[in-house]
Amino acid sequence: MSEIIQAGIIGMGSAVPDRILTNADMEKIVDTNDEWIVNMTGIRERRIADEDKATSDYAALAANKALKQAGLKATDLDLILVATISPDMPFPATASIVQNAIGATGVPAFDLSAGCSGWAYGLSVANAFVSSGIYKHVMVIGADLLSRLTNWTDRSSCILFGDGAGAGIVGPVEEGYGFKGFSLGSDGSSAEVLKIHAGGSRTPCSVEEIEKHNNKIHMEGREVFKFAVKIQGEAILQILQQIGMSPDDLDMVVPHQANIRIIDSAIKRLGIPKEKFYVNLQKYGNTSAASIPIAIDEAISEGCIHKGDNIAVVGFGAGLTWGAGVMKWAY
Ligand code: ACO
Repeated sequence: MSEIIQAGIIGMGSAVPDRILTNADMEKIVDTNDEWIVNMTGIRERRIADEDKATSDYAALAANKALKQAGLKATDLDLILVATISPDMPFPATASIVQNAIGATGVPAFDLSAGCSGWAYGLSVANAFVSSGIYKHVMVIGADLLSRLTNWTDRSSCILFGDGAGAGIVGPVEEGYGFKGFSLGSDGSSAEVLKIHAGGSRTPCSVEEIEKHNNKIHMEGREVFKFAVKIQGEAILQILQQIGMSPDDLDMVVPHQANIRIIDSAIKRLGIPKEKFYVNLQKYGNTSAASIPIAIDEAISEGCIHKGDNIAVVGFGAGLTWGAGVMKWAY
């Protein structure tokens, strides 16, 4: 276990619901309009899960696709992580439900809660397990059905969110490829700006809390916006400095798909062409922990990511947390 094994992503998959909720549909739910939503966020439509579906359903679909791309069976996995803030239920972990659904008999599984940074956090956990030789193949899923947690009477937040799942398998890769560095962080002093107040041990859910929508997402949008603008570029620059690379060395940045104005600020901060930023938020809105892996999977299927490309991912979200990683794409 003393030798460091080079770890990287060896397969990706994603799954989103078929049902589309456009900005025109949103106009029928709250007092809003397509122009405001597009100008302020870049979002044009989002996917909403059918009522009979749960987070684990999309997570399992994404996981099976990632297994196929990696040429692995579910029983080849050594660990399953599900990054989510919308688990099927408070417990057991959604990861255990996914483990059973994909037939990964006996494989350890746990959930990870770091908001929209969850998938980047998960990659760094998987890297630690694989590079140390403890495990060979770790499935990292980001999956959220934020539509279930959305306050549909709050026009400043309900227009943002969508549902979906993305999965990546972390395993050993050729020398020189794979993960180069991570930057994770959190600032719990700002935990109040993005939260679901009721439903936990501090404020259990009650009729009164539900009437106040306290069992749904509360977001102080401006505060989150300011934080995101500051942290996105900074987190990537910190890694690049550590590993002796510059923004120009990056072939693609896959940022958390929250708001085009936040992404534009990272483009400015890093000073690299906007074509190098992969953006699909216009189609899916903010899918929380799923947004980065869905975007990577789509970028691969569109031929935008190639073996040897230097890729940066960066997420931010509830906590407040941030998580970034830089890798040389390994397949
Ligand atoms: N349609 C029309 N008008 C609206 C809407 C809407 N949907 N929402 C708000 N407005 C109005 C407000 O009422 C306000 O009007 P007023 O000036 O007459 O009072 C005006 O627009 C400005 O509202 P703000 O809420 O102050 O707008 P802001 O500039 O902050 O933009 C937004 C709102 C887009 C939500 C922005 O704050 C944002 O993107 N924040 C970041 C959110 C984010 O990225 N979250 C990610 C983390 S999510 C997670 O981790 C689960």
